[in-house]
Amino acid sequence: VTETAGASDGPPDPGAVWGVVDGFTTYWAVVALLRLGVFEALAAGASTLAALAAATGATPDRLEPLCATARTRGLLQHDGDRWALAPTSATFLVRSSPASMAELVERSPGPHAAWATLERTVVSGPADPVGPSFHATLVEATGPTQLAAAAATAAALGIGGTRRIDHVLDLATGAAPWASALLEADPNAVATCNDLPEVVGVAQRAVAARGLAGRCRWLPGDVAHVPLPSADVVVVAHLLRAESPTWARAVLRRAAAAVRPGGLLLVADYFLDDDHLGPPVSVRMGLTMVASTAEGRALVRSEVQGWMAGEGLVDVRAIRPVPFQEVLVAERPGAAGSSGG
Ligand SMILES: C[S@@+](CC[C@H](N)C(=O)[O-])C[C@H]1O[C@@H](n2cnc3c(N)ncnc32)[C@H](O)[C@@H]1O
Repeated sequence: VTETAGASDGPPDPGAVWGVVDGFTTYWAVVALLRLGVFEALAAGASTLAALAAATGATPDRLEPLCATARTRGLLQHDGDRWALAPTSATFLVRSSPASMAELVERSPGPHAAWATLERTVVSGPADPVGPSFHATLVEATGPTQLAAAAATAAALGIGGTRRIDHVLDLATGAAPWASALLEADPNAVATCNDLPEVVGVAQRAVAARGLAGRCRWLPGDVAHVPLPSADVVVVAHLLRAESPTWARAVLRRAAAAVRPGGLLLVADYFLDDDHLGPPVSVRMGLTMVASTAEGRALVRSEVQGWMAGEGLVDVRAIRPVPFQEVLVAERPGAAGSSGG
């Protein structure tokens, strides 16, 4: 499907401009509802504005437009004088839900302050590029979403079933969602997890909470320089877009070199189409990299697939394990188990 935003046969429609303003105000309405705990209050049974106000400390008449705004996007339902969660908000915006995106909504755009100075950033780069302390909060926020993507990827690849694995190498592990899902898919596997020293503690807490601490080894350090052990599955998830494409190419080369014969390289990211104009989520994620990193850019799917093939990997393909998530998969030729390490 080709998007032709702005093209129309009729007179110009201001709807697209209002849509831009709506995007801004709707975002902040949902952030406020999340911070106030409105979705949790609804999940706990509050339904009238008075009950929601009492549960959150808000004023009913001020809270109502926030709820009504969320309703315009299908995130809340309203019947009589009762408000209720919609299926989407019950699944993705209640913090106790296993698929919660409640923290992701706040963290995924990067530091909010960066957006108000975007025009200066486009000229001279970000005033305050994100560093390890931002990563530590980001990866906790995105962990549940990535765990779901990783579990679906493991299932799609038959890991633990038709494909048995001994060793996972998870580079830039974050809160270790990819290592966790792969270890849970194959109970015989162990994982080596890498991240910056300031972030490794987040992963250690996350795997301990899932009972996987005894199956993980730790490799703190810069992924571009730490010595990497070989593995049956090497994962590079949501890392490569954070630095320059030259850096991404070099890290990809190191990751590919760690894949054992018969093993897999998985590269998860929000990849651009060849024309750089879609998919929309990837365009926006590339913009987020411009806003908050010095050199990060969304990468083009076909280009990264070419890098993988250039490292001697075969059967390079893209899968969509869950909506909005894409994983490039490739295999190192040779019999599984024919190499040590
Ligand atoms: C967007 S998060 C992705 C985390 C995880 N792979 C996931 O999919 O949820 C990016 C991660 O890369 C880590 N990172 C950034 N630069 C790194 C580097 N040079 N070496 C190792 N890790 C790095 C960050 O600390 C962060 O945990």
